[in-house]
Amino acid sequence: MKIKTAFFCQNCGYESAKWAGKCPSCGQWNTFVEEKVQKDIPLRNTNWQPEKENGRSDNIVNLSEVSTTAEERLLTPDVELNRVLGGGIVPGSLVLVGGEPGIGKSTLFLQNALQLKDITTLYISGEESAQQIKMRADRLQVKNDLFYLLTETSTQTIFQEIKKLRPQLVIVDSIQTLQSPFIESAPGSVSQIRETTAELQRFAKESHTPVFLIGHITKDGSIAGPKILEHMVDTVLQFEGDQHYAYRILRTIKNRFGSTAELGIYEMTGGGLRQVTNPSEILISQREDQLSGVAIAATIEGLRPMLVEVQALVTQSVYGTPQRTATGFDLRRLQLLLAVLEKRGGFHFGVKDVFLNIAGGIRVEDPSIDLAVLCSLLSSYEDIPISSKICFAGEVGLSGEIRAVNRIEQRVAEAEKLGFEKIFISRYNKKGTDISKFNIEVVPVGRVDEVYRGLF
Ligand code: TYD
Ligand code: MG
Repeated sequence: MKIKTAFFCQNCGYESAKWAGKCPSCGQWNTFVEEKVQKDIPLRNTNWQPEKENGRSDNIVNLSEVSTTAEERLLTPDVELNRVLGGGIVPGSLVLVGGEPGIGKSTLFLQNALQLKDITTLYISGEESAQQIKMRADRLQVKNDLFYLLTETSTQTIFQEIKKLRPQLVIVDSIQTLQSPFIESAPGSVSQIRETTAELQRFAKESHTPVFLIGHITKDGSIAGPKILEHMVDTVLQFEGDQHYAYRILRTIKNRFGSTAELGIYEMTGGGLRQVTNPSEILISQREDQLSGVAIAATIEGLRPMLVEVQALVTQSVYGTPQRTATGFDLRRLQLLLAVLEKRGGFHFGVKDVFLNIAGGIRVEDPSIDLAVLCSLLSSYEDIPISSKICFAGEVGLSGEIRAVNRIEQRVAEAEKLGFEKIFISRYNKKGTDISKFNIEVVPVGRVDEVYRGLF
């Protein structure tokens, strides 16, 4: 028998009959791998005659007959996790948790499972041995008699064990190690990930057991291989942070049961992850004394809101031609903003050297950072610090007007979450946005001079 194969993009799951250097779907290079595929038996519907009058099978339900008793969510002792899930774990939900290797995914879920004392949890590990997990659990210093461990990668064996144990929560670490005997490709390949996830999805839905899938993320931030995975699961969480810092952020990327504007913050300690209940401590601790030239922008990178610090230094020019330097921000855009300040605000930047830096070595493309850049320039020019409880989100136009930016509610929510007390936004963003629901003070501004008067 001839085995049918096809080429799959390992990044987005695009299927092609031929190998290609560049994926026509996601544009990634060198991602096509040949995988064996199962032959589909085509099912043809040819007979459209009704079988009996008004008949319908049990597979079809009338929506009005579906009972809507609110599903009881499972609350974990971890407040941050409950929040990002939209208020606890939904029975029968399939949750994907992505993150770079070593960020603490295994620690987070081992810790949470151990703390759930009165439900039976099955932790399936394809990566670590039982001894390694035991050592980690000892380090976390939590004991739980209903916590079970299975080091196995074949889904067939896994489901046999699940049938016997009947766990109330299943954690899979990681989805890239699982292998379905019905698919011949290697673990971690697109067809394996798709098949094993589909099997777990059926199990979750049919048994009403919540299942957490841990997945590794590639350097560019996508969940390794399976973009397709994101469509199959109910909720996608991302665990992120800089390896050099102890802080970790758990974000909701997608959630069928709640908002995606949520985030949970943790600190990695010697004894596991600690919930950070007052998140502003991360930003505040780094700048105790207020310095001039610093402003915080509420930006959005991709899907994710992010508060970034803009630093400006404006000094008297020593040479004939004033210098302008920008790190992490477009230099032409900086020159444009300086021209706006010169012409619309009457500030004399023409005789000043201007240095601009985005903290943390990141590059920001989001135009909503304009307002924070402008305010950091003014703050340094006047040598008056801006309170560390204030942040900004707005684009600046050529005539000095503050323009509306997208997803303002998500930005305001993030600023509120991070402990800011005031956010300056465009007056034009105020329309159609319900700002009264926020506890943070939202200051709508229309022009540069209004911001100036509001600040200094
Ligand atoms: P881990 O959960 O293995 O990461 P992932 O599953 O995302 O690959 O965590 C890895 C790091 O966390 C490791 O470098 C050690 C550190 N760690 C602590 O600092 N404290 C702890 O209590 C534990 C268990 C791990
Ligand atoms: Mg791990």
